Amino acid sequence: MFNMILFGPPGSGKGTQSENIVEKYGLVHLSTGNLLREEIANKTPLGTEAKNFMDKGQLVPDEVVIGMIDNSLEHHKDATGFLFDGFPRTVAQAEALDKLLSLKKSEISLVLALEVSEEELVKRLLNRGKTSGRSDDTDEAVIRKRFTVYTNETEPVAGHYRQLKKFNSIKGEGSVDEIFGAIKNVIDKRMRHPII
Ligand code: AP5
Ligand code: MG
Repeated sequence: MFNMILFGPPGSGKGTQSENIVEKYGLVHLSTGNLLREEIANKTPLGTEAKNFMDKGQLVPDEVVIGMIDNSLEHHKDATGFLFDGFPRTVAQAEALDKLLSLKKSEISLVLALEVSEEELVKRLLNRGKTSGRSDDTDEAVIRKRFTVYTNETEPVAGHYRQLKKFNSIKGEGSVDEIFGAIKNVIDKRMRHPII
């Protein structure tokens, strides 16, 4: 299996590049943000609970998202690999993911971070907010809150995977095609030289 985490702050292009990666490498795309928005759209109790956190730019509790990922892994037993987008977002989530994968005799092969300046991120998210219908994109205060949460709770996840020598980063600014070119280079290299 080839399992990768696409890492980076809100608006760094994880969702955009996930589409390209999934198409080229045939991985199963697991975005906790998308899964939570589906729950909200279906008006489930989980969705109603999650919306309270998401609208404020806060993280949904670990046990909720870990449970969703556990279910999704079970749903796709025949997958050749997974692309995690927006997960893990805390060190506790990363440890839980490592454990879930090891139960399946698998592991994370690569963590790839997209680096984008905060000014560019705000511009992208406010722009997306005009059309996306995402309630967390229209208020700049909520966007800034998401960055603070990212710095405090999510950036330490990079350290977790750096220790395991799985962490890589590239510049996430430029055209979507240019960035995808850089992503392909890193993935192809890792596929040729797996870390065992
Ligand atoms: P989530 O849905 O994961 O959102 P996010 O991390 O805030 O990231 P975004 O989806 O906003 O950005 P992206 O990196 O995917 O960028 P995109 O490709 O869309 O999470 C939302 C909320 O759910 C969280 O705040 C939290 O409450 C909750 N949640 C989710 N996962 C959780 C977890 N694991 N634990 C706890 N809570 C969780 O691009 C952004 C925009 O930029 C788009 O308009 C795009 O067209 C544009 N763009 C993309 N690339 C480029 C480029 N190269 N140049 C110019 N524009 C570009
Ligand atoms: Mg996204």
